[in-house]
Amino acid sequence: MVQLPIRSLCAASLVACTTLAQQNASTYDYIIVGGGTADSVLVVEYGPLNNDSSILLPSETLVSHADRYYNITSVPIPGLLNVTRPVLAGAIVGGGSAVNGMFFDRGSASDYDAWETLGNPGWGFQSLLPYFNKGVTFTPPSAQFAEMYNYTWDIGKAYGGQGEVQVSFPPYQFPGQEYVWNAWNELGIKKPDEAAGGEAVGAIQAPSALDPVTRTRSYARTTHYDGVPGIPSLERPLSRGTININTSDPANVPIVDYGTFSNPLDIAVAIPLVTFARKFNKLNAFANLGATEISPGANVTSETGIAEFLRRSFAPTAADIIKERTEWA
Ligand SMILES: *[C@@H]1O[C@H](CO)[C@@H](O)[C@H](O)[C@H]1NC(C)=O
Ligand SMILES: *[C@@H]1O[C@H](CO)[C@@H](O)[C@H](O)[C@H]1NC(C)=O
Ligand SMILES: *[C@@H]1O[C@H](CO)[C@@H](O)[C@H](O)[C@H]1NC(C)=O
Ligand SMILES: *[C@@H]1O[C@H](CO)[C@@H](O)[C@H](O)[C@H]1NC(C)=O
Ligand SMILES: *[C@@H]1O[C@H](CO)[C@@H](O)[C@H](O)[C@H]1NC(C)=O
Ligand SMILES: *[C@@H]1O[C@H](CO)[C@@H](O)[C@H](O)[C@H]1NC(C)=O
Ligand SMILES: *[C@@H]1O[C@H](CO)[C@@H](O)[C@H](O)[C@H]1NC(C)=O
Repeated sequence: MVQLPIRSLCAASLVACTTLAQQNASTYDYIIVGGGTADSVLVVEYGPLNNDSSILLPSETLVSHADRYYNITSVPIPGLLNVTRPVLAGAIVGGGSAVNGMFFDRGSASDYDAWETLGNPGWGFQSLLPYFNKGVTFTPPSAQFAEMYNYTWDIGKAYGGQGEVQVSFPPYQFPGQEYVWNAWNELGIKKPDEAAGGEAVGAIQAPSALDPVTRTRSYARTTHYDGVPGIPSLERPLSRGTININTSDPANVPIVDYGTFSNPLDIAVAIPLVTFARKFNKLNAFANLGATEISPGANVTSETGIAEFLRRSFAPTAADIIKERTEWA
């Protein structure tokens, strides 16, 4: 039995955390934090029932709606020239699944197997996969759209269940995306036929959390309640951020410290992301587009120049850096 005196409830797989009005210290057997579309049977979310129907429209993922997020700003980030950044975490019923880009993905088998290796039997990929499958209904695209957008899938590997979360490929992709697919192909980067079956590496074309009939968002509220800049991301950063309760005012919003690039190895790893992006954009796949580099500018070639550019422009959320969760206990 886990015994935690808890005064704050932290939202979902995202990064924010807010204190509850409830001031009683209590003990709990289990604490479910968010969960979103991750097959939760119980919805624990902070925020109102937002009935704005635009939440359901895929096009609205490109529009900013401040009222759907926590109003939390990070502390200054020294690794990014002391800027502060908003913490984008959903604060309506549905949580992150109500505000995200509807990208329906899973980690690689090795990600989950690492949980098991850390001493959690039953949390490896093969043990979890039946539950992943059970939670969603996958509807394949029509032959016409599969051919038009090179969609591939493998129901036997990754789906087969009839859960509430609807997963499908959209009947529309932005014009020009074929250049990017062809560029990955030119580099010899493999595109798995099915990324949700434990092979989330390479060039991934994931389906969306999208109802195949109404073409609207399928998210934690509809399923369980009602019935960025072109900079690559750092996948395994060494820098660590924190979320702490504000000890001088526990009812205040939490103190979010991204800590981006606080470990010098991360900036050393990020510099080649820029040199790679340059190489990528010079591939034959893009040749007839006649593109020229705007940012940071072809004249910025030194490592210090690129590092300065990264510190000016990197989105802290392009690196998942929140750790040290033990402090919440
Ligand atoms: C716990 O909460 C209840 C209901 O809000 C309140 O009546 C009670 O006084 C609280 N107990 C403590 C120890 O704060
Ligand atoms: C939103 O809809 C729910 C029922 O689904 C209702 O209880 C709630 O009052 C509505 N909220 C607003 C602001 O209209
Ligand atoms: C967000 O928080 C800031 C600082 O606490 C406050 O000044 C501002 O009015 C809040 N904005 C909204 C939309 O609540
Ligand atoms: C960021 O803030 C720290 C602490 O105030 C200061 O020492 C440092 O010089 C600042 N960095 C920049 C780039 O302004
Ligand atoms: C689909 O694949 C073919 C062959 O690799 C390629 O020529 C075409 O551009 C691709 N289409 C899209 C939309 O990615
Ligand atoms: C913590 O809360 C106090 C009191 O509301 C406030 O003055 C202070 O700015 C907060 N600290 C941070 C880092 O937000
Ligand atoms: C690169 O060129 C741009 C525009 O031509 C200029 O604004 C910038 O200062 C230059 N940067 C360096 C490092 O020379």
